[in-house]
Amino acid sequence: MLILGIESSCDETAASIVEDGRKIISSVISTQIEEHRKYGGVVPEIASRRHCENILPVVRQALDEANLTLSDVDAVAVTYAPGLIGALLVGVSFAKGLAMTTGKPLVPVHHIAGHIATNYLTHPTLEPPYLCLVASGGHSHIIEVLSYTKYRVVGRTRDDAAGECFDKCARAMGFPYPGGVHIDKAAQSGDPTEFRLPRPVVAGNEFDFSFSGLKTSVINLIHNSQQKGIELNFTNLSASIQTTISEILTDKTIKAAESLGYKKIALAGGVSANSGVRETLSRACEKRGFEFYMPDKKLCGDNAAMIASQGYYNLCAGITADESLNAIATLSMEEI
Ligand code: KG4
Ligand code: ZN
Repeated sequence: MLILGIESSCDETAASIVEDGRKIISSVISTQIEEHRKYGGVVPEIASRRHCENILPVVRQALDEANLTLSDVDAVAVTYAPGLIGALLVGVSFAKGLAMTTGKPLVPVHHIAGHIATNYLTHPTLEPPYLCLVASGGHSHIIEVLSYTKYRVVGRTRDDAAGECFDKCARAMGFPYPGGVHIDKAAQSGDPTEFRLPRPVVAGNEFDFSFSGLKTSVINLIHNSQQKGIELNFTNLSASIQTTISEILTDKTIKAAESLGYKKIALAGGVSANSGVRETLSRACEKRGFEFYMPDKKLCGDNAAMIASQGYYNLCAGITADESLNAIATLSMEEI
């Protein structure tokens, strides 16, 4: 089955054709990062306007690169939640128009479920159930993937997401937006032991995350040293930030796996591109004899192949939408 996937939840307009949930036939991503960079973050109205301009050429290119026409695809899958509402609405309206005029099924896909599906595109044999750590710019979740379409959230962030923490620390060091990847690069040659950063104790659910304390302590450290005219070693600070975030994410994921009896762990979301997170979690799994899956680096960031992949599994489970489908800015995985 060929699924056309459409993604426009943040600052990437993307379209892709995926076969049977596992094989990418084409994948086109038009990113707006350069434009948002001068504002230090995504400006929602600009994002919506760019999606509006880009969506038709991006979908057309995905079909052209696959050597297909609309009549060849079996369904249209689209990210409908969560994300920037004006951005989501562009993709949802466009997908709805395509599905209604061609008579193809319209398949709604939750963005985080899409990120999880990047592992199906990377690992042909991976099947649920397993435990997945999803860390992105907007979310940090530990999720039980019970089946291809059923999830239980075991832990979530109480405040900032891991990606947000990377980006805000990076901004304080003067790295361009989005800064996570710059911390990753700097950390390669840094010494993570020069700075000791706080690891939060989260009351209540032991699998919940909290990254705002870490972010605040990095920002305070930088401001205080600037006031005193002391130059900090940002290479070492980057290494400390990366090590601390990687260890927090890994510790909680491993504890959740041990407590729930999972021996199969996956990683997903934009932050899954981070070399420290990949290495720390992969090593911790190897030590315990757990199976570990992570997406190909090219699939970690927002893309539409992940939406088409998850769209296939949703369609197989009978999850489709009619013309009343609307975009939703905030929607838990358990409500889908
Ligand atoms: O999943 P994603 O592309 O968008 C959301 O759904 O939020 O995630 C984007 C986040 C950003 O915070 C970005 O800085 C972070 O993923 N990110 C990284 C790396 N690559 C992307 N963070 C740390 N290291 C990286 N290599
Ligand atoms: Zn994302």
